[in-house]
Amino acid sequence: MAVLVIAPNERPDIWASYLRELAPELDIRIWPDTGDPDKIIYAVAWNPPAGILASFTNLKIIFSLGAGVDHLFKDPDFPTEVTISRVIDPYLTAGMREYVLLHVLKYHKNQPELDKQQRKHIWNSRENERLQSDERNIGILGLGILGTDCAKSLSALNFNVKGWSRSMKVIPGITCLTGLSGLNHLLNSSSILICLLPLTKDTEGILNFSLFSKLPKGAYLINAARGNHLIEKDLITCLDSGQLTHATLDVFRKEPLPKEHIFWDHDKITVTPHNASITDPRTVVYQILENIQRHLDAKPISNTVDIKNGY
Ligand code: GLV
Repeated sequence: MAVLVIAPNERPDIWASYLRELAPELDIRIWPDTGDPDKIIYAVAWNPPAGILASFTNLKIIFSLGAGVDHLFKDPDFPTEVTISRVIDPYLTAGMREYVLLHVLKYHKNQPELDKQQRKHIWNSRENERLQSDERNIGILGLGILGTDCAKSLSALNFNVKGWSRSMKVIPGITCLTGLSGLNHLLNSSSILICLLPLTKDTEGILNFSLFSKLPKGAYLINAARGNHLIEKDLITCLDSGQLTHATLDVFRKEPLPKEHIFWDHDKITVTPHNASITDPRTVVYQILENIQRHLDAKPISNTVDIKNGY
């Protein structure tokens, strides 16, 4: 019985060394040094090359090294009978909370405009009409663990928060919405829109011209979910027309963002390199090892993914 770490660009050696340190009795291997493929029962994976997972016929559980699992489903040969457990980690949640609060507050305090003024040596302390936090409406697309935490944190700062999700949620202090009418209601009032949706066939391309056009003029966008949620040319159109004032993007259709991509130098776009929040091996290995033990004891696995829903 062996555990295979398949995370080609994510320092698999670090994951393997934490696993070996905490569970010296386990046979931990790093792809592509797989050894006998029939021995592989557990895979610890991030962006595995297509077709690899299907080649392990005794594979029982895949531990996704991120909250999102779309990196697994893009493999056309993904073995759908295998259980997936994804990371649910307080540090990952905290990292996303910090990122969202940082950029929401930056927008709320009009920092992009103040940055421009500084570059022109302009001292204008009344640069715009300023909203109080309880006058600011913020919309969050996606009320999973990360979206719910961000919604509560923003609400604790007195912002008016609406959240939208596929299934109806009840979160104290948050207006929870669902369906197309719920989405339109959220969009009509949100001057800051945050995307924390899972990437599925229903949400791919959701950040498009039609959606942006429903926001109040001059709204702000924060996308910390997946690059494929966004129709890139629609964002540029809406930034250029003033329908959107500024966008903060942590995720891109192609990562790393190609050097020549228009987003890098657009003065209304802030680019961060998919590091809004990063899975921390120091905490996540415990979750993986606990789940391996649960599997060995024939107990239910925690944080499993519903393959049908895609998250
Ligand atoms: C990162 O993008 C994650 O899914 O955790």
